[in-house]
Amino acid sequence: MSDSFDAYVFDLYGTLVDYTSLGSRCAGFAPHPESFVTVWRAKQISYTFAATLMDRYVDFDSITAMAFDYAAALHGLEADPTQRATAIAAWSTLPAYADVVPTLLAMRARGAKTAILSNGTPTSIAATIENADIANYFDAVLSVDAVRRYKPHPSVYDLACERFTTTPERIAFVSSNGWDATGAAEFGFAVHWCNRAKMPAETMGAKPTRVIDSLADLLR
Ligand code: LAC
Repeated sequence: MSDSFDAYVFDLYGTLVDYTSLGSRCAGFAPHPESFVTVWRAKQISYTFAATLMDRYVDFDSITAMAFDYAAALHGLEADPTQRATAIAAWSTLPAYADVVPTLLAMRARGAKTAILSNGTPTSIAATIENADIANYFDAVLSVDAVRRYKPHPSVYDLACERFTTTPERIAFVSSNGWDATGAAEFGFAVHWCNRAKMPAETMGAKPTRVIDSLADLLR
């Protein structure tokens, strides 16, 4: 494994940590917490696209809060300030998926380099991986904040090439987000789309190199 790629670079939210667990934090004000979280996440991502296209960078913590307020308004919900703050803060206490630690341990034992490349702010990424007990498994933690644009802008993916002084095809990029997998494949990464949510394949753009069910498949 160590000689097949110069680095394995992972998306964070939805790939290493499980944001669907936010439902339990929203059950106090949302009658249908799962659908609330689905809208919240979709709006969060659509605001990142809009911010980049408009060339008006707003950091991911602020976008998460704005997307919460939109999702609440759409559902006609009134979250009190404590419920709102608790739900938003819960993005920093998401659990790691069960396959994360065993896979990273095995990869690193074989000599592979590993990194995170995320839309999150440096502070929030650090808190999230610390709370999920996965902070010790990465050679680098990269945030879009460095280029003030969001995925799938090529300048974001290029952060990983710069960090490992290599070319896109020498990096294995792992994401559970279909649009992120497409953007990374367009950039030229060897993309491993971990299709945790059993979504259909994206119909636009470059295809991932490989579709996997679990991060453990990266070891095979
Ligand atoms: C991230 C989002 C896209 O971590 O999941 O970058």
